[in-house]
Amino acid sequence: MASGRGSNLKVILAAAKAGNCPVDTRLVISDKATAPALQTARDEGVAQVLHINPKDYADRASFDAACGDAIEQAGCHWIVLAGYMRILSAEFVQRFAGRIINIHPALLPAFPGADGAGDALNYGVKVSGCTVHLVDEVLDGGPILAQAVVPVLDDDTRDSLHARIQSAEHTLYPETLRRMVEDGFHIEGRRVIWNQV
Ligand code: GRF
Repeated sequence: MASGRGSNLKVILAAAKAGNCPVDTRLVISDKATAPALQTARDEGVAQVLHINPKDYADRASFDAACGDAIEQAGCHWIVLAGYMRILSAEFVQRFAGRIINIHPALLPAFPGADGAGDALNYGVKVSGCTVHLVDEVLDGGPILAQAVVPVLDDDTRDSLHARIQSAEHTLYPETLRRMVEDGFHIEGRRVIWNQV
């Protein structure tokens, strides 16, 4: 599921094509008709590419239910959020409990929310990065699968920091998906423990 540029979607599809990420992306959903992610998905030959318009639904729960139905019909096991800018309803999170993954442009639990890169920069931290995590009912709050660190430079702007974080994302996200599928993991408390070291 993606709302924007789709650079993470692009690297995941490329890694799969290159044999480095054993995922079969059956469906891409965007809530935004103009999201470049939709075109990327079409260009890369994803079997089903859908724009589902929130305005066609009475509320978030019914919009999420429509997305969920499409996901089930496509036979997807994992739901990978790649720049999906809507908060998921509790019903959706419960329906796909433990099967939704997100990437966030900050080192969680610091700087959750819509602008992780900008918030980290403005706070004045000297390192930031990205976090791949399972999604639960708490915004950006689920168990952490993987993180990568990048420096924050004195002359950074929000955009330059976000660009550096995105470079790290483009390695971390496909690699984490690969580990999830090939190695597997289990959860102890809040900790994700990988089944292979
Ligand atoms: C990424 O920085 C991700 O961390 C955040 O949204 C951005 C999506 O970028 N959740 P893209 O659409 O994959 O280029």
